[in-house]
Amino acid sequence: MRIAIPAETEADETRVAVTPETVGKLIKLGATVVVARGAGQKSGIPDAELAEAGAELAEQAEVARGADIILKVRRPSAVELATYPSGAIVIGVMDPYGQTAALQQMAAAGISAFSMELMPRITRAQSMDVLSSQANLAGYRAIVDAAASYGRALPMMMTAAGTVPAAKVFVMGAGVAGLQAIATARRLGAIVTATDVRPAAKEQVASLGAKFVAVEDDEFKQAESAAGYAKPMSAEYQAKQAALVTEHIKKQDIVVTTALIPGRPAPRLINAAMVASMRAGSVIVDLAVERGGNVEGAVAEQETVTPNGVRILGHSNTAGRIAASASALYARNLLNFVETLIDKTTKAINPNWDDELVRATLLTRDGAVVHPNFQAAA
Ligand code: NAI
Repeated sequence: MRIAIPAETEADETRVAVTPETVGKLIKLGATVVVARGAGQKSGIPDAELAEAGAELAEQAEVARGADIILKVRRPSAVELATYPSGAIVIGVMDPYGQTAALQQMAAAGISAFSMELMPRITRAQSMDVLSSQANLAGYRAIVDAAASYGRALPMMMTAAGTVPAAKVFVMGAGVAGLQAIATARRLGAIVTATDVRPAAKEQVASLGAKFVAVEDDEFKQAESAAGYAKPMSAEYQAKQAALVTEHIKKQDIVVTTALIPGRPAPRLINAAMVASMRAGSVIVDLAVERGGNVEGAVAEQETVTPNGVRILGHSNTAGRIAASASALYARNLLNFVETLIDKTTKAINPNWDDELVRATLLTRDGAVVHPNFQAAA
């Protein structure tokens, strides 16, 4: 059983799908592990450490040769796919929504492509939940980035020269990223408020010592899907929410937005007029920028300064900005999933194609797009 880990090819991708720790564990499962030279460099993992853990090193063009399983962060490009053996299992964050052509390419390459972000949120799969592991780090980093761009202190400081007031931080979207942003901002001494459309978020926000601010009407009470995600809200709700946010945001120093709805563009929560109402030096971090953004004026990979002096940060791969931690958790998520695909006694790959986790994440197999949600791409 051969497991290959190529280097990521996107310029902004700093993460890697393996660490020395997971190399060792994959070898214990019976695998030969081959890693592309330099694959861990941007995550602070030298080739030597991977080799010491037992990995073979190969050139990028050769790494996938003869591989049974290929571990990736991002969906492989056509160029990468050309180097993958037909029949290989390829596991990564495949970002499948609206990617018909890319799914067809993977099907045509004959690979069994698994998309980690489709992992069901059930107890057994918690250790494989890449959305949580990466969003948690992104939420932390969003506050660190905001604090670095903000020209004032976050905690209240009482000094002989006078008092510096605590910063006011507003977190929009209190899922995994938002809750970690709240916790981090609180640790730094900020006064934190947060909003969400899911009623379950209210108690979680309060338990972190932040104040919950939201339009709590009948629609709000129904806003959570069976899978625990937010539903798209009606135009009427959005108008009420906008009115509330318009009043609240004027007084905020730092705003972090994290609102997402799986498979859809991110909801627009902050418009230009709201940004214009904030004072100079305020900072907005839009963690949803990769999905179209929650904030009008946010531009991916840019720090925009508005005419009234508000900084809008739009990093699309915020978890990748703490690459060493992000890779460590992501690699463990993958390892935990790979373990379920291997027969412990024979030490051979033997996926149970009927397993709930496999059925939820498998996009392509035997030359076809097989996932029910992406049949249009078949
Ligand atoms: P997400 O990344 O899909 O969205 C982020 C947040 O934005 C969510 O809290 C969502 O409700 C909120 N949002 C969406 N539209 C909004 C709007 N118009 N205005 C304000 N907020 C809006 O969500 P994430 O972080 O993946 O978490 C979703 C749920 O899944 C949470 O309930 C979380 O506790 C749960 N979860 C369960 C896990 C499990 O293993 N059982 C693991 C991780 C999360």
